[in-house]
Amino acid sequence: MSTETTVPFYSWARTAQRDWPRLAERLGPVLDGGVFTAGQAVAELEAAIAGFTGARFAVGCNSGSDALAIMLRAAGIGSGDEVVVPAYTFFASASAVLHVGAEPVMVDVQPGSYAMDPEAVLRAITPRTRAIMPVHLFSQMADMVTLTKIAADHGLTVLEDSAEAIGMRIQGRHAGLWGRAGILSFFPTKTLGAVGDAGMLLTDDEELAERARMLTVHGKRLDGSGIHELIGWNSRLDEVQACVLLTRLERLEEEIERRAVLAARYTAGLSGIAEVQVPWMRPVAQPGNQVWYVYLIECERRDELVAFLEQRGVGTEVYYPRPLTHQPALAHRPGAKHPVPVAEASARRAVGLPLYPDLSEAQVDHVVDAVRAFYGGAS
Ligand SMILES: Cc1ncc(COP(=O)(O)O)c(C=O)c1O
Repeated sequence: MSTETTVPFYSWARTAQRDWPRLAERLGPVLDGGVFTAGQAVAELEAAIAGFTGARFAVGCNSGSDALAIMLRAAGIGSGDEVVVPAYTFFASASAVLHVGAEPVMVDVQPGSYAMDPEAVLRAITPRTRAIMPVHLFSQMADMVTLTKIAADHGLTVLEDSAEAIGMRIQGRHAGLWGRAGILSFFPTKTLGAVGDAGMLLTDDEELAERARMLTVHGKRLDGSGIHELIGWNSRLDEVQACVLLTRLERLEEEIERRAVLAARYTAGLSGIAEVQVPWMRPVAQPGNQVWYVYLIECERRDELVAFLEQRGVGTEVYYPRPLTHQPALAHRPGAKHPVPVAEASARRAVGLPLYPDLSEAQVDHVVDAVRAFYGGAS
């Protein structure tokens, strides 16, 4: 029986203590200098993320959600186009498509990876389909080998929602770089988190990168002429967030390793419980790595378990409580007509357990003990 009594779903108190002194050194000159958006720290961060991922271009944006819409518009997606997206994902994967005037066609996902099912994609393709947007969730990438082949066979653009996928690679190629472009989110709880909203677009395509950068400043040319060539947004990454991210990036690899150690401990502790399905790596055509952003289990009586854990001081998060096709804002759309049984079952059964580098082994053991106690096992 573990002795830790509370395990918040997310905390970075210890990380903050460790990182703040180094952050102060970076922040000082920014606060004194007076350039607060898209300045030196943002340029440094873009170069560092390009280096980490292997992207030729990285464009800072105000959030991952903004980066999705910017990516779609920069790729020329708009009115009359259909974009195939998974039905089990964060809302922005679909709403970004609507923001650029196109239709998100929501399809079912595969068990294990929770990523779009290539067979379902094939069934959803119509003469209006312009792009597919695979989303890499929780700890592993979509089957990009199969999906990029389908896209090539049908003349479709691949745009990746790699918001959750920093550090994930298949065959050495980083998430977001399998298609024409991809995006990252730096929401605070992400594997690389800011202290507010921040995001980034990744691409090897110079023209797309330039359009994306223009779109972050209301479509203004980058030559200082003040001429607006496109309709964009105000979506600049700010210098304070860039300083935080540069500071945290120094320890990203170490933190990814720590997440893996904790995930393995969960898996060892929960594996024997009949009612619980621990995460499993879906075999893909080419080998890839896992990055444990979220430790997601599937289980019987999920909502009762969530309430029980809460009583024991354990925070959880239900990703995602409904398939997108069942969200009132999307259910009436023409793109919501495909059957999504795996997404429905996942929405009913899945729950994320606390996972972050600061978590102690004793806290993981406390969560495991509590799950075991719920299902009537020892402890
Ligand atoms: C799969 C997915 N797509 C898009 C986003 C949007 O990112 P952000 O919260 O930075 O807007 C997120 C993160 O929240 C996400 O998990």
